[in-house]
This record gives sequence, structure tokens and C-alpha cells, in this order.
Amino acid sequence: MSKEPLLSVRDLYVSFRVQKKLLQAVRGVSFDLHTQEILGIVGESGCGKSATAKALVQLLPIHSSEISGEALFNSKNLLSLNKREMEKVRGKEIGIIFQDPMTSLNPTMKIGRQIIEGYMLHHKGQKSKEALEYAIRLLELVGIPQARTRIDEFPHTLSGGMRQRVMIAIALAPRPKLIIADEPTTALDVTIQAQILDLMKEIKEKTGTSFILITHDMSVVAGYCDRVMVMYSGKVVEEAEVNQLFRSPSHPYTKGLLQSIPRLDMPHEQPLIPIEGSPPDITETLKGCSFCARCKDRLPICHEQDPKLKKYEQEHSIACWLKDETTH
Ligand SMILES: Nc1ncnc2c1ncn2[C@@H]1O[C@H](COP(=O)(O)OP(=O)(O)OP(=O)(O)O)[C@@H](O)[C@H]1O
Ligand SMILES: [Mg+2]
Repeated sequence: MSKEPLLSVRDLYVSFRVQKKLLQAVRGVSFDLHTQEILGIVGESGCGKSATAKALVQLLPIHSSEISGEALFNSKNLLSLNKREMEKVRGKEIGIIFQDPMTSLNPTMKIGRQIIEGYMLHHKGQKSKEALEYAIRLLELVGIPQARTRIDEFPHTLSGGMRQRVMIAIALAPRPKLIIADEPTTALDVTIQAQILDLMKEIKEKTGTSFILITHDMSVVAGYCDRVMVMYSGKVVEEAEVNQLFRSPSHPYTKGLLQSIPRLDMPHEQPLIPIEGSPPDITETLKGCSFCARCKDRLPICHEQDPKLKKYEQEHSIACWLKDETTH
């Protein structure tokens, strides 16, 4: 793993204007992503996972969103690129895979053409026969049987799992350094989900591509990520190397997430405990820790001041007053 991060995000803020209110969806997110690394972003619905990812590639609505911070990628700040500059990065240097391939695939274009188009756009002067062979190789790589004939099919003739594989092939075609996958397997059944995630891991090993894998599923994190960032209400509350997080989860929210899902490494009789309550209203200015109202172990300071994300071990940062010895 190289020391220089591939992507370095600092103090990312995203807010949306909705009916005269300001919704603070992402509130000061910072993280690094290294080459050949899968970083998981996990957290409940609405915690700001997609807003974080979309801000990086400028896919948020221009007129109703406000973004600030820095996201250094290949010595460029992604957040300050103009439309044309971003169009050169999105797709070519950063691939994107979303949850529902049917909304991202063009239903009227053969799948081979869709792979080749993205590739040719960024590799001008390439012969079309070579591009076709490349598209076939990519379809084979993502496990599409009879790729040579399948290449002439339209998306609707493929199953959900196959369509998602095509999406991955399209994302891979320009050989991006980073792929952002936002809930890429949520719509698929578990067997297909595992196959797609295995494929992403294999691609990481073979090509050195890095992934940001957004999920609300802790078992996906355990099985496929190298590092994980737990988000709550627009903030990072815990960030760790994946084994470290499962060995010693420290933020009460992370602990809650882990207690609320079935785990293979826990005895069967261990009851599943849902996290009670719901996240705070993000149109209000929040005082103190945003998880405070749902936290059983809260201290007086938790109501007053927001804990900063602090590094407690080499690969483990937590934003919680309970960890901070100066408060006890
Ligand atoms: N385009 C938008 N306009 C207005 N509000 C938005 C927009 N996109 C997201 N939001 C709001 O911002 C907050 C964060 O949303 P985001 O989509 O990032 O959540 P998420 O963590 O990806 O959730 P999920 O797991 O449901 O996909 C939510 O309150 C959401 O309603
Ligand atoms: Mg989302």
C-alpha cells in the first residue's frame, strides 16, 4: 500500500435547501483512501453516505445543494473542478456503480456499445475492433457467459445480477483508479450479492483499483472491506481497519449496529438488539453529540459538546466522550 493516499477528503460539508430549510446532510467528513483498498461507508438510512459520495463526483443538484471542503485526488481538488474538468474525471478516473443498474444503463443501446462508448470517449484514436475485443474481455472478466454473443444484447434481456455485472464492466472500461459503488448489491438476492462483491474484491487484487463501498450492511463490511467508516447523522463517528473494528467496536452507535445484525462470530443465542430511537432532525443546529439522545452511556458533557474524531490507536479513530479520558 503506497503511503500517499489516492483520495484525501477534508472537512466535507453538504447541505440541501429544502422548502426554505437547510438540511445539513454531511457535517465535516474527513478520510483518506489508499491505492488497492476497499473503504466501506456504513450507517443508517439518511446518515449522508450517498451525499458524501455524490459530492465527490459533483452529482448533487447544483441549485439546491451547498458543498464545501477539499477532496484531493491525483493532486486535483475534485470539489473545485469546473463542469468540463469533472467530466474528464468522472467515468474515466473515477468509476461509479449505483444500486439500480436499470436507471443507469441505456435501455436502447446494446451492452457492448455502452462499454465501448465510455472507453472510446477516453481513448480517442483506438481502433473499433480492438475496443470490441476489449469489451468482450471485460464482460468475461465480470463473469458474463458467452460474452462474444451477449455483447449484442440489450439490457432488458439480462437478469438483475447480470445487469449489475455489465455496470461494473462499464465502470471498469476506462481503467479508473477508483470506483464508487453505492449500495451496488442491495437490489439483488444474497447469492448474487456475494458473487458481485467477490468480483469487486478480485478486481481490486488484480488491477489495484480502489473502491468506496457504500452499504448499510455490517456483514458486507466484514466480508469485503479493508477499512470502514461508520457515519451517523452526517458525521464520521468511528473509523478503523476492518478487523480492528469488529474486534473492538468502540462508539456506542457502532456497537449498536453490530448488536442489531446476526453475526457468524457470535453464539446463536445472542439476542439481536435494535438501536432504539431515531436520528436527530438535521435541519436544527445540533448541540452536543448527535447520538446523545439514543446513547445509554451518555455523560453530562455529551449534551453540551460535540466530540471530535480522535485517533486512539494506529488504525482506529473514534468520536466519543466515553473514550476521552479527560472527561472521566
Ligand atoms: N437531492 C437532495 N435534496 C434534498 N435532500 C437530500 C438530497 N439528497 C439527500 N438528501 C437528504 O440528505 C440526507 C442524507 O441523504 P443520503 O442520501 O446521503 O443518505 P444515505 O446515508 O445515502 O441513506 P440511504 O441508506 O437511505 O441511501 C437525508 O436526510 C436526505 O433526505
Ligand atoms: Mg444512499
